Amino acid sequence: MKISIIGGTGEQGFALALRLLIKGFHVIIGSRSEEKALMTVEEIKKILGERLKGKVEGKNNIEAAKEGDVVVLSIPYEYTIPTIKALKDELKGKIVISMGVPLATAIGDKPTRLLYPPDGSVAEMVQNILKESKVVGALQNVSNKVLRDIEKEVDCDILITGDDEEAKRVVKEILEKIDGVRVIDCGDLEKSRIVESITALLIALNIKYKAETGIRITNLKI
Ligand SMILES: NC(=O)c1ccc[n+]([C@@H]2O[C@H](COP(=O)([O-])OP(=O)(O)OC[C@H]3O[C@@H](n4cnc5c(N)ncnc54)[C@H](OP(=O)(O)O)[C@@H]3O)[C@@H](O)[C@H]2O)c1
Repeated sequence: MKISIIGGTGEQGFALALRLLIKGFHVIIGSRSEEKALMTVEEIKKILGERLKGKVEGKNNIEAAKEGDVVVLSIPYEYTIPTIKALKDELKGKIVISMGVPLATAIGDKPTRLLYPPDGSVAEMVQNILKESKVVGALQNVSNKVLRDIEKEVDCDILITGDDEEAKRVVKEILEKIDGVRVIDCGDLEKSRIVESITALLIALNIKYKAETGIRITNLKI
């Protein structure tokens, strides 16, 4: 299975790629620039060395979207609409993971404040544009610094949302491979409104306590 990361050159996509590659997945780093994607691939190879168990490639976003079986969107909220509109045909029928959070940084305000997307959440916005894709919300509450620190387990639950049960099953199977993670299916895509908003609180805690917080749901046996 090929997992493409659109914007995989950025903080969150890069860190996720490391975690997937040490577990043997085939990852395609997508970028607006193929050259930048290839440079990122070299950086990943250098960091992982012998821990690289999967295959990693770099491509422009269109090729990455075309080739991926599962496609992760790892681009800031404010650039999401034009980016996915340009990839609509390539993403038809595919599982698309939305990690986006509508932080007010998109309008130059604080990362501890949220904007309110007209569709309710970033994930719903993506689904409303990519009508023929199966959108799953995931990873919004996991900090790139935690993902990036591959020496440590990721001490977080990953809350997933989506309207397609099979797509959520596939995403759960992938993300559960990350050491330390428990994946919790939180229900339909509309729940992304709640999940995405938690991130602004976690960022506020990170600033207040100089920490890298995540979320764990307690007393839930699954
Ligand atoms: N950072 C975190 O800790 C974190 C945690 C949870 C969720 N998230 C979510 O993950 C997503 C990515 O976050 P990030 O921190 O990785 O973002 P980022 O590093 O600021 O940007 C990611 C990538 O977006 C692409 N990009 C930049 N400007 C663009 C434009 N005008 N049009 C299209 N693509 C553009 C760039 O890729 P190219 O230049 O290679 O095209 C860039 O490497 C966001 O939706 C964020 O809310 C982040």
